[in-house]
Amino acid sequence: MPPQGAAGAQELVFYVNGRKIIEKNADPEQMLLSYLRKRLRLTGTKYGCGGGGCGACTVMISTYEPALKKIRHYSANACLVSICSLYGAAVTTVEGIGSTKTRIHPVQERLAKCHGSQCGFCTPGMVMSIYTLLRNHPEPASDQMIAALAGNLCRCTGYRPILDACKTFCKESICCQREANGKCCLDQEDDLSGKEKKVFTRLFSTDEFQPLDPTQELIFPPELMRMAESQPKTTLFFRGERMTWISPVTLDELLDLKAAHPKAPLVVGNTSVGPEMKFKGTFHPVVIAPARIPDLSVVKYTDDGLTLGAACSLSLVKDILTRAVSEFPEEKTKVFCALLQQLRTLGGEQIRNVASLGGNIVSRKSTSDLNPVLAASNCVLHLASRGRKRQIPLSDIFVDGVGNNTISPEEILVSVHIPHSRKGEYVSAFRQTPRRENALPIINAGMRVLFEEDTDIIKDLSIFYGGAISTTICAKQTCQTLIGRHWNEQMLDEAYRLILTEILPPESVSSEKDYKKTLIVSFFYIFFLEVLQSLNTMDPCQYPGIPLEYRSVLQDFKTKMPQSIQIYQDVDPGQCPQDPIGRPIMHQSGIKHATGEAVYIDDLPSVEEELFLAVVTSSRAHAKIVSIDTSEALKEPGVFDIVTVHDVPATNEFYYSDDPEIVFARNEVICVGQIVCAVVANSDVHAKQAAAKVKIEYEVLEPVILTIEDAIKHNSFFEPKRKLEIGNVDQAFETADNIIEGEIHIGGQEHFYMETQSVLAVPKGEDKEMDVYVSTQHPAFIQEMVAASLGVPANRIMCHVKRVGGAFGGKLLKTGLLASVAAVAANKTNRAVRLILSRGDDMLITGGRHPFIGKYKVGFMNDGRIRAVDTKYYINGGCTPDESVLVAKVSLLKMDNAYKIPNLRCWTYVCKTNLPSNTAFRGFGFPQSALVTETWITAVADKAGLSPEKIREINMYKENEETHFKQKLEPQNLIRCWNECMKKSAFYNRKRAVIEFNKENYWKKKGIAIVPMKFPFGLGTRYLSQAAALVHIYTDGSVLLTHGGVEMGQGIHTKMIQVASRELNIPMSCIHFCETSTTTIPNACASAGSAGTDVNGMAVKDACQTLLKRLQPIMNRNPKGTWNDWIKEAFEQSISLSATGYFRGYNENMDWEKGEGKPFTYFIFGAACSEVEINCLTGDHKNLRTDIVMDIGCSINPAVDIGQIEGAFVQGVGLYTMEELKYSPEGVLWTRGPNQYKIPAVCDIPEHFSVSLLSSSQNPYAIYASKGIGEAGLFLGCSVFFALRDAITSVRNERGLKKTFALNSPLTAEQIRASCADDFTEMMASGESASSTPRVISV
Ligand SMILES: Cc1cc2nc3c(=O)[nH]c(=O)nc-3n(C[C@H](O)[C@H](O)[C@H](O)COP(=O)(O)OP(=O)(O)OC[C@H]3O[C@@H](n4cnc5c(N)ncnc54)[C@H](O)[C@@H]3O)c2cc1C
Ligand code: FES
Ligand code: FES
Repeated sequence: MPPQGAAGAQELVFYVNGRKIIEKNADPEQMLLSYLRKRLRLTGTKYGCGGGGCGACTVMISTYEPALKKIRHYSANACLVSICSLYGAAVTTVEGIGSTKTRIHPVQERLAKCHGSQCGFCTPGMVMSIYTLLRNHPEPASDQMIAALAGNLCRCTGYRPILDACKTFCKESICCQREANGKCCLDQEDDLSGKEKKVFTRLFSTDEFQPLDPTQELIFPPELMRMAESQPKTTLFFRGERMTWISPVTLDELLDLKAAHPKAPLVVGNTSVGPEMKFKGTFHPVVIAPARIPDLSVVKYTDDGLTLGAACSLSLVKDILTRAVSEFPEEKTKVFCALLQQLRTLGGEQIRNVASLGGNIVSRKSTSDLNPVLAASNCVLHLASRGRKRQIPLSDIFVDGVGNNTISPEEILVSVHIPHSRKGEYVSAFRQTPRRENALPIINAGMRVLFEEDTDIIKDLSIFYGGAISTTICAKQTCQTLIGRHWNEQMLDEAYRLILTEILPPESVSSEKDYKKTLIVSFFYIFFLEVLQSLNTMDPCQYPGIPLEYRSVLQDFKTKMPQSIQIYQDVDPGQCPQDPIGRPIMHQSGIKHATGEAVYIDDLPSVEEELFLAVVTSSRAHAKIVSIDTSEALKEPGVFDIVTVHDVPATNEFYYSDDPEIVFARNEVICVGQIVCAVVANSDVHAKQAAAKVKIEYEVLEPVILTIEDAIKHNSFFEPKRKLEIGNVDQAFETADNIIEGEIHIGGQEHFYMETQSVLAVPKGEDKEMDVYVSTQHPAFIQEMVAASLGVPANRIMCHVKRVGGAFGGKLLKTGLLASVAAVAANKTNRAVRLILSRGDDMLITGGRHPFIGKYKVGFMNDGRIRAVDTKYYINGGCTPDESVLVAKVSLLKMDNAYKIPNLRCWTYVCKTNLPSNTAFRGFGFPQSALVTETWITAVADKAGLSPEKIREINMYKENEETHFKQKLEPQNLIRCWNECMKKSAFYNRKRAVIEFNKENYWKKKGIAIVPMKFPFGLGTRYLSQAAALVHIYTDGSVLLTHGGVEMGQGIHTKMIQVASRELNIPMSCIHFCETSTTTIPNACASAGSAGTDVNGMAVKDACQTLLKRLQPIMNRNPKGTWNDWIKEAFEQSISLSATGYFRGYNENMDWEKGEGKPFTYFIFGAACSEVEINCLTGDHKNLRTDIVMDIGCSINPAVDIGQIEGAFVQGVGLYTMEELKYSPEGVLWTRGPNQYKIPAVCDIPEHFSVSLLSSSQNPYAIYASKGIGEAGLFLGCSVFFALRDAITSVRNERGLKKTFALNSPLTAEQIRASCADDFTEMMASGESASSTPRVISV
């Protein structure tokens, strides 16, 4: 039924990259992202999450406002923009600003040349955020730049190189100029010169950059201007398959529509309605888009404040308030300032650009950052419905909590009046979030107090909180009770008591609730201090103000443009200029990443008659499948078939050990998220819609084992358990001066590669051949699994990998299972099948880093020497073995980190649980086991009364010592890294400064820590490190290189081309790499374990040397000839111009029976020093500075290697301080996207960030004396963990709290707050009541 008043649907007219689009069948459910990618084949704009949380889909939207004759350019998340909202707009995508075919844009060029892309998947989004900023501000300030990137996530780079590129556009100088000579404080080139080789601190040269010329940009289409100016505005209707979109132009019309369709939401930014439809299954047959109605966009200054239209975007609100604050006297702008405080970090810029003020208010979400402030400030809502207009205080909409119906369904919000503040009135805003920027609040608040004239007697008080219950809540009773009271300590004490009774009923208990309650009172306390301080400023004689050491807590942490330096050794002065080894060469795909031309799986053009696959997963952790009812699903539009275990022609269960890896669940499910069946349909939308209709009946099976504790209780383990022992542990404990025991829990980690798992399986129509295009680190393994599933020989399955949008260990076995699912479907339907996991499914299904419990007992002498260690590690393997036993073994072998422990016993147990199976992840067990080690090192320090760095030094490996499995170790470079890091970080001076700061500041504390690292390199067995390469030289002299390594951002192809260039003595530009494929290199090992460059480099070198040997006689005969002459001659002499190269692998071994061996070939060393500042009242923290020194031998490409170190470090910071997976007590993962699971963003990287590569280091075991570097840096992220611990220790020492305390990982704001115990936390100490069920379990 067409909605009332609907005429025929219209044509949607808009522009994309200067091209006019007329869409006759615009579907309101179609988001711009899928339209660009599928319809227009503009695949530069990427899918990363679909919910506005990652920025991968950023585009620029431009609109023309005829009344103002102004064009507005703004960035937006294409995944949340309905195409119907684009009528008359111009969209610019990454393809529109530059390409290798025409001219690349300076933003694209600089991002690539500054090494700002690794896997490249986030890069187009980054480009578009920067580009949009530059369109509006060609010379932006650095804080504008930082703000522009707050909504863009990158999982690879650690952001530093991206920001380096950004700085080249900023008007401030790149360097901090803090030194007396005007140089950057971090620039240490001078200190280091005079050594044998020059030390470099620049990874790129700005001289090469084209200038930014704003006159060259794509213009706003004149036709759209004409349309806006001359065409009368009429109501627009767009009708899709299921939904109708109506966009009226007058208020009356809107009110009529709302009366006719009271249930239809008003959609402005779609940032609330959109995610609800996508992720919560809400559906609206009719939506009304009011953005074109002038009444909803008013901006009116009145005598007593400001009236803003409900459809004003939050960015516009921010701009208007900023202007007002600069124009009005301070006394009048306190409400504006409080709102700005929230708007600064609310969402990312892309969200603020589209999200509307009205939407934020009316959706009444508990997480609205504006509502508490607006409500506390007596803002007024102007409402209208047909025949009725009224004004109500905004606070009214929260009076009865969630079910409030103050605004009737027919009513709309026209505008909001924000009053000026008055004399004697103070307004503040607070928010605490899991990540400082672009994260929804845990608790927020708006508070306002008005005093009787010239007194501190409360005349009016208003306190609102968000995050506490399901909507904003007012502490009304509290406020009323406190009226008439003086603003003093007695009032404060009373206020705490009242607020807590009023806001959270005492029976609701759990640690999260305790944290929320603590924040609730802490915020009021900060407000109390702020107001006291303001009273003092007003009248210092009457009001004493707050103690000096309290003042710093009034300043929030702000994100500043980080200063950074990278130090590396230049190549030998005699090295040929053409030889690229050792030089900071740009990633071979860098420019293509930045232009969006780099092709990932879902960017591949559709194959004829291609089908799309959506998986149906188990909703139970352990259950028998009673029935699967597909009847409803099969009736859905576009559905082609449903694939189950019965369609697998051969292997469904893969036995790599006693328990199988499973493609489709057979009779039983063993975790939530296990694949039960899959729907294939003619579009991804149809496949997903139908998948939701498959009904599965379960019969729950016992036991349901989710946590490590559950597994221990049920004796549920994967075998074998492993043990290593050296010395006589029991005897050593007897002679030790002290013994400590403890435990640490380390949470898991989601890979969060930006490109989700992706496969395209294409049956070739004959001989059961199938092409499998797949995003994997291990094509040979995918080939093997697909072949086994289909029951065909491996020679029929061709796996192709061009590049991978991030992997980090997560695209090995899991990808194999998914590829089998797609291949089975392709085989059954005889059609090409595309499987691209949504972010939510990816996080749910694929598992990640193993949660870990380390239990330790340590015996040590009073002087800090550790004599004995006895540890047990329990790792949560999940429901199938995957590589968990190997991870456990590696964690055991690497657990000593940098320390010689003479008597050591260590066990590992892999727990078999009903969670999605965990798998390989950068560091492979080391980041967990070494964190346990560093934890007991710190605990020893506490007990011995020595500093952690002293304990580290005393116990660090010395020359001629052996590891706990009797492998000899040369630790000189470990000690050099440690000493250099000490020196570069000026550790002792800064430690003194930290102590001083802590004496002077009560509620803010700093902490500093330095951590050494020994990262053993090796895969344990020779065959796992074999590698092959294939090099063809064509008669025109060009070279096609291939090897078994996969490019996933680590720059392997760039390095391999560097190797071939050196070996063949030809420029890199003559060498091309096309794809990794099982057809060219058979049986290649996984690109994993930091080994890619080492082993493939050897193979490439071997192949090139073979070719060169063949060419040598020709070259000798014609020494003056060119490369092309020699190749031509070789061809004419029938000399083969194609060669394979091979590397047999490292001779590594480990005898687990004896507990000894040589499982590693060499060691990578490093040290990192980090400094942090914490807010003891909120648990918030800021990373102030990190200095890293790494021994990576002779770097083949310092830009790539430093990028790996920084990227891994930031991923480690995520692991240890913020990334928290949350499971329900039923085993359901709740954190299924960037809005719930926070990986580090730009705001999380250290303000000062320095990475130095240890000079004069050689490695005889790897190509060109380099070292494999992919994983090691991750562990160094724990220096931030220990710096936080140091800050907490300082708090606890000052307050006389227990010296020994346990901290788990991730060390989130909640834990920091709880560890900084004070009167507030004391008040909340509710303890978990026996009857309460926690919302989240620790697995
Ligand atoms: C990634 C992401 C991060 C975010 N981070 C934050 C954050 O940190 N803090 C925060 O506070 N919010 C945050 N948000 C929420 C965001 O601010 C709100 O979703 C947004 O303000 C809603 O505005 P909208 O125009 O997009 O609403 P829409 O989705 O278009 O509509 C929302 C609802 O409001 C109703 N509505 C809209 N306008 C009117 C009107 N004039 N009259 C009556 N009803 C109306 C609609 O009927 C609909 O039900 C985030 C959202 C996303 C997606
Ligand atoms: S895909 Fe749009 S923000 Fe992530
Ligand atoms: S380069 Fe940013 S996600 Fe890979």
